[in-house]
Amino acid sequence: KGHFTYDPGFVATAACESGITYIDGAEGVLLHRGYPIDQLADNSNFVELSYLLLFGELPSDEQYETFKGLITNHTMVHEQIVNFFKGFRRDAHPMAIVCGVVGGLAAFYHDNLDISDEKQRRVSAIRLIAKMPTIAAMSYKYNIGQPFNYPRNDLNYAENFLYMMFSNPCEEFKINPVFAKAMDRIFMLHADHEQNASTSTVRLAGSTGANPFACISAGIAALWGPAHGGANEAVLNMLDEIGDESEENIQRFIDKAKDKDDPFKLMGFGHRVYKNFDPRAKVMKETCDEVLAELGKADDPKLKIAKRLEQIALEDDYFVERKLYPNVDFYSGIILNAIGIPTNMFTVIFAVARTIGWISHWNEMHSNGFRIGRPRQLYIGHTQRDYPTK
Ligand code: CMC
Repeated sequence: KGHFTYDPGFVATAACESGITYIDGAEGVLLHRGYPIDQLADNSNFVELSYLLLFGELPSDEQYETFKGLITNHTMVHEQIVNFFKGFRRDAHPMAIVCGVVGGLAAFYHDNLDISDEKQRRVSAIRLIAKMPTIAAMSYKYNIGQPFNYPRNDLNYAENFLYMMFSNPCEEFKINPVFAKAMDRIFMLHADHEQNASTSTVRLAGSTGANPFACISAGIAALWGPAHGGANEAVLNMLDEIGDESEENIQRFIDKAKDKDDPFKLMGFGHRVYKNFDPRAKVMKETCDEVLAELGKADDPKLKIAKRLEQIALEDDYFVERKLYPNVDFYSGIILNAIGIPTNMFTVIFAVARTIGWISHWNEMHSNGFRIGRPRQLYIGHTQRDYPTK
């Protein structure tokens, strides 16, 4: 029994070295390549952050333009991918569709799959970052029975995503700059978070030499669960269920979350690493206030419930003792809801954003060298016994 360290949930095991993201959970610090997340959120944008995560340094103006051009030029998907969509039920959850379609990309873009070649890895990375918003918006359009929109090269990353989501052939589409800015910020705040469950999944799949599209599809699958990326959808469902900000309703949910006989958890609360405020949640809360104020919805009923819930939880001994604070997903859903994005698309949007994190880790792993990931176990089954003969 004593041959291995037993660490269920990998609470104390570092499985790799990485220079991409640093988290100090006790202090609530999150740095990407050394830059604090709040400074990036205020001054950068998602495409520049993607360059930083992938290549390690902020781009020069020329490098930025080249990178942006490459991403813009790869936004379309192969026309036959439309047929792939048509195989799904219309009412399929968009995460199921996106998971399948992204895995299937290897069947369309198998010309650059030599993972030992740095240039080919870069092409796959750019394809993935560029095509994720297109695939995400297609999954939504398919769901609601509207025609797919081709991407538009004159729009930036967030604007183009909103255009593909909301434009239809019957009316002129106008970009709302407040929505576009908020969308870009949501992409930035979800871009990377070191060795979380989905990134570790991408690394583990990648350690076998699997192609990048298959690895990212594995990451999407891991992200889907409510304990991880599915939390943003679950938060909104929870706020809907709470109904209004009355003390009585909120307290009922707090008590349910504290009840050890009830599996319910306060969605959008708690984090494996942050034992202080999640720095992404701070920025997200500010963005939420800004967006709703600019839309004249400062008294949004969901925001009111969320704020009161946060206040009550942060004063409750159960949450204080366990150092449970709101995480990134507590406020993101309220912003997405205000933009008009349906709840079942929230986790898909997280996947769009996290693709750069996943592919940066996958690329780092291939650049630095690695061994196949192969955890051991503590065997608790039968000792050897004889097969019964008649
Ligand atoms: N509501 C009520 N109790 C909680 C919560 C919660 N949201 N989160 C943790 N606890 C309790 C937990 O029951 C445990 O209590 P005890 O010590 O009495 O057994 C204690 O706090 C420690 O929690 P844990 O389950 O050991 O923590 P973990 O690191 O295994 O899980 C987590 C972290 C994020 C999965 C968990 O906090 C959770 O399920 N939160 C709700 C889902 C959520 O918001 N997820 C999004 C995470 S941030 C976005 C992302 O990166 O994906």
